[in-house]
Amino acid sequence: MEQKKPNQKLKRKRRNNTSHKTAYKTKLYLNKNNSTRALAVETLKENRLAINLAGLKLPNPTMLASGILGYTKETFKTIADGGAGAIVTKSVGLKPRSGYANPTVTQTSCGLVNAMGLPNPGIEEFAKEIIEAKRVLNVPLIVSVYGFTAEEYATVAKKAVVAGADAVELNVSCPHVRETGSEIGQNPTILKEVVEKVKSTVQKPIFVKLSPNVTSIAEIAEAAVNAGADAITAINTVKAMAIDAETAKPILSNKVGGLSGPAIKPIALRCVYEIYERVKVPIIGCGGITNWRDAVEFLLAGASALQIGTVIATKGPNIFKATTRGINAYLKRKGFRSVNEIVGLSHKS
Ligand code: SIN
Repeated sequence: MEQKKPNQKLKRKRRNNTSHKTAYKTKLYLNKNNSTRALAVETLKENRLAINLAGLKLPNPTMLASGILGYTKETFKTIADGGAGAIVTKSVGLKPRSGYANPTVTQTSCGLVNAMGLPNPGIEEFAKEIIEAKRVLNVPLIVSVYGFTAEEYATVAKKAVVAGADAVELNVSCPHVRETGSEIGQNPTILKEVVEKVKSTVQKPIFVKLSPNVTSIAEIAEAAVNAGADAITAINTVKAMAIDAETAKPILSNKVGGLSGPAIKPIALRCVYEIYERVKVPIIGCGGITNWRDAVEFLLAGASALQIGTVIATKGPNIFKATTRGINAYLKRKGFRSVNEIVGLSHKS
């Protein structure tokens, strides 16, 4: 039992891009000093929050989640200035799309339900914004893409990368637009086709954002990784709706949407935990993170990075700095020298 802990730790360190040499040194050290705290000292890093996420260098593990904020360089800059370690855009497709009629977002007692219908200017127009955004951002820019076929995903991804995207995140999890989103991500065969096509088309890291609205998210994650995903983002919104008691009608024009915010945090945490047990690529935790403690819980569950979205509406862009400061204080208090050291730690208890 005592010997098992260091070995598990080493396996996870490789996932977090620690070199085999460092892992080897760590192993020797652990054989002499059988404690987690000793490992923390051995893997000393200059900046305890900096991470390498599938080849992308992030100053800290927080990222803007793809969502409501998301098409202008000004917004991206505001979020980066607020302390985000990376930016993920709202999903963009091949052609411009106006999305659904209003109302598209409604507040409930436990979070937001949205069904915007993937409104976006189309990749040709958005490519100009990517070029401009790259000029002003000092953190990685990840472009979220969707399509109605594998070819469309690949075409949009390629155009995004040519414009300067540092990585692409495949939206295979929007819970309510027909013939895309979760209709792709809920089917391992179609998902494989999409990921393989994009992987063979672009030379940048590919993140795959998964839906919680499936029987086994770990199985879907495994299909995505086998097809070439460099990281898994978990999770997109939970399929939901809101009804107005006075009018007796669904509130959103599309009737059905996706729930985000604190209510989905335990679901997202469970998904990250299950995925961590199944695949070896980094996991980006997303869903209901509102403070540093939530962020730490996701790291302990197995997330290497964290996406933050809904809470920005109430706490503003400085939520990123506040979260990062809190994670840093936690690491310091517990004696860890790198955020990588706590990734997946809850699996050891
Ligand atoms: C939307 O644009 O309606 C939301 C997209 C998503 O949930 O992925």
